Amino acid sequence: MGRAVKRVVYNEQDIAGKVRELGEQITTTYPDGELLVLGLLKGSFIFLSDLVRQINRPLQVDFLVAASYGDNTFSSGSVRLLYDPETTLEGKHILLVEDIVDTGRTLNRLMDLLEARNPRSLEICALLHKHIAKELKYPAKFVGFDAPNEFLVGYGLDHAENFRHIPYIASLQ
Ligand code: PRP
Repeated sequence: MGRAVKRVVYNEQDIAGKVRELGEQITTTYPDGELLVLGLLKGSFIFLSDLVRQINRPLQVDFLVAASYGDNTFSSGSVRLLYDPETTLEGKHILLVEDIVDTGRTLNRLMDLLEARNPRSLEICALLHKHIAKELKYPAKFVGFDAPNEFLVGYGLDHAENFRHIPYIASLQ
């Protein structure tokens, strides 16, 4: 597959413990109201499925699929939704679930878009946060790990679409 794993950064136990903690925090943060957990595909698919099983209150699940335009396209940094949640966002607590915050560009753009739909609240839950984003307009309320600035794969994260299935998070050589 071109690149090999260098080291395990978070093993299965680390991840399971952290996901449990996040689930408890989220449960106590939302004592009332409708909660819609929105997973950003593809990277969040494993994290999301583990996380919602640790949240002990009623909720709904939906997904977002977004396409960012690269720097060399004419449409200059906008985000287009390839799949838009079917359920209405207005009046609900929306929790956007990300696998990793890197430059923060994805979140800046998506949050603007979601905010415009008048949710009751709008927060971010990220399993990994590199804390290198200089212009993150919306800080993540729930963060699993402060991640090292390395290329990370596994538990949903990919390199050229590979490695998503490995059950731990590793850095690449
Ligand atoms: C990755 C990752 C985050 C985003 C973080 O997604 O899953 O969504 O990049 O980077 P940023 O903070 O610099 O915007 P990617 O676009 O690779 O798609 P994927 O989720 O399908 O892997």
